[in-house]
Amino acid sequence: MAEQLTLSIIKPNAVAKNAIGAICGRFEQAGLQIVAARMLHMSLEQASAFYAEHQGKGFFDELVGFMTSGPVLVMALQGEDAIAKNRELMGATNPANAAPGTIRADFADSFTENAVHGSDAPETAEREIGFFFPDGICKRTR
Ligand code: TYD
Ligand code: MG
Repeated sequence: MAEQLTLSIIKPNAVAKNAIGAICGRFEQAGLQIVAARMLHMSLEQASAFYAEHQGKGFFDELVGFMTSGPVLVMALQGEDAIAKNRELMGATNPANAAPGTIRADFADSFTENAVHGSDAPETAEREIGFFFPDGICKRTR
């Protein structure tokens, strides 16, 4: 598998419970490098645009309400097979189905407040990294 980039977000509930270090530690232990990072409190416009693919779905308003409820840490992660590796570390979207030891199993509070976001495909990763890091990132060469 090739070297990839993926977008990760530590969501407001996980930031509020002081779990940034614990979650980033899991990324690093799995061989994913943080190559860009930015803390921000998203506006409704930003969260709606970021989650545009979910507009019109029943959970959309709750999702953007939650994502704008407090600060988040947005990161680009780089590594071998980074997209799938991150999704594996995160666990299933619904924490009730997340495998023991995954980030969502350990830090989610509900289906919506599920602690982390991760890109789901190379095209999505590219769009999402460009969305939050329009000036580029510090991609590693070694
Ligand atoms: P989705 O992209 O399907 O999941 P993932 O984050 O694993 O890629 O959905 C985006 C977020 O929307 C998800 O992390 C939590 C929230 N969500 C709900 O609150 N209810 C739902 O029924 C679904 C499908 C998602
Ligand atoms: Mg998704």
